[in-house]
Amino acid sequence: MSCSTPEVPSVVLDALMPNARRLVTNRRGSTVWEVFGPRGHYAVKLGYPIAATADWPAQPWTALAPAREAAVLHRLGFDVIAYGEWEHGTWNFQPWHEGPDLHRLWEPCREPDPVITPHTSVALGCVEALAELHSKGWAHGDVQPAHFIIGPERTHLIDLALARGGYVPQGYDFPFRGCLVHYEAPEIARSVLATGEAEPTQQADIYALGATLLISATGWRAVEYPDDAPRPVQRQAVANGRRRPVKAPGELGELIDAMLSHTPEDRPTIYELGKALS
Ligand SMILES: Nc1ncnc2c1ncn2[C@@H]1O[C@H](COP(=O)(O)OP(=O)(O)O)[C@@H](O)[C@H]1O
Ligand SMILES: [Mg+2]
Repeated sequence: MSCSTPEVPSVVLDALMPNARRLVTNRRGSTVWEVFGPRGHYAVKLGYPIAATADWPAQPWTALAPAREAAVLHRLGFDVIAYGEWEHGTWNFQPWHEGPDLHRLWEPCREPDPVITPHTSVALGCVEALAELHSKGWAHGDVQPAHFIIGPERTHLIDLALARGGYVPQGYDFPFRGCLVHYEAPEIARSVLATGEAEPTQQADIYALGATLLISATGWRAVEYPDDAPRPVQRQAVANGRRRPVKAPGELGELIDAMLSHTPEDRPTIYELGKALS
């Protein structure tokens, strides 16, 4: 399974009748295509289990992620999506959101002598996308630069597979085991180290947004640890909260510092951020 790219399931082909498709990502446990057809422009996501390796335990939950995400999107009343099961796991399709992600959009800001500084209106678009979720009582759980798509009209926050805040069918649910360590709040890292699991919160989303803006604007991670450090060592560094002395330029720098506060209660809410940036 892990050696080859899976096929788009026939039930998805029947539903979308694509005349063109592009493989977007094919990585451990998840494959995504951009699909064009008479029914529209969609992202098709396929999940399958990750087998155990020398460095990793098996991760069966990745098979459930697309169905879980679709259930969350339905619950939130977002655009039409469908989901189902295939041989090795679950799939979903959802409207394709056009535009670069935040990391790509701010690439020019990360050049050695940048002529462009990160625009607060872009940060505000990300804040508004996350505020939409928080106002409905949900936490995203996996906020990172690749998950903000900066469209011509608005910014979309994608990949809701780990979101928490409302009912998810039991058969598709699984515990939260942390996210990409660069964006993990100290309290999440500490809980994952102690118990293997954690509870996504809106405050942890704010920390992740701060780390997301910082990395996209400057290329630097919020916390210092070696690139090749084993994951538990990275998590320990995050839990200890040794912030790197790096700042995004301008007003954004101050806001990011506040978002990255070690104590969750010291972080601004998404609404306070919205006000500060408008
Ligand atoms: N609805 C969408 N619109 C545009 N691009 C998408 C969409 N869904 C996924 N993608 C692209 O596919 C990549 C992987 O999708 P994601 O939802 O993060 O799944 P996973 O992390 O499980 O692989 C994203 O970083 C993005 O480039
Ligand atoms: Mg993702």
